[in-house]
Amino acid sequence: MTRLRTAILISGRGTNMEAILQAAQTDGYPAEPVLILSNRPNAKGLETAAKVGLAAVAVDHKPFGQDRESFERALHAVLIEHEVEMVVLAGFMRILTPWFVQQWEGRMINIHPSLLPKYPGLNTHQRALDAGDEEAGCSVHWVTEGVDEGAVIAQARVPILDGDTADDLAARVLGEEHQLYPRATALAAREILSKKKPLPV
Ligand code: GAR
Repeated sequence: MTRLRTAILISGRGTNMEAILQAAQTDGYPAEPVLILSNRPNAKGLETAAKVGLAAVAVDHKPFGQDRESFERALHAVLIEHEVEMVVLAGFMRILTPWFVQQWEGRMINIHPSLLPKYPGLNTHQRALDAGDEEAGCSVHWVTEGVDEGAVIAQARVPILDGDTADDLAARVLGEEHQLYPRATALAAREILSKKKPLPV
């Protein structure tokens, strides 16, 4: 069976990455993680990935300063070198330029800790609490040029309970993310495989 060569991009602890790595060990899973890429050299997720023998690469964004496209050209070169066919953003905390998005559009997905279209951007849990919402959740979506705006692939919901803090809510949502992201990654991978879109160069 064909499996899509998949890069997971992280910036930190990488627990969603771990959930996908685990799912990818099951028979018939359509995505094969071949590369873990971080913009932070000290991301804990890089260590986790290296321990299980995966290519774990850091491209530090800091030396590029404000030049986001040059940073992304360096990222892109690593993705091409590893013959990546799908990009999974899993807690990758950099906003991407239109140039990078255009290279990978239709092959790149993201997980966001809110019920999109509610609360794109940061501080999603506090914003849900401040709004008096009764539920929160997470969304997996195709990445397009607008931040957190692409078509939603799948969502999961949790209740907001009396007395919840943003941290309580983040922990409850994260548990759902770990179920949702492996499932949504498989859905997206099957869709990409069926479309046979040309690969970026
Ligand atoms: C997750 O909650 C993810 O939804 C969020 O960062 C966390 C990463 O955790 N992503 C964003 O906020 C993207 N805008 P992890 O490193 O343990 O997977």
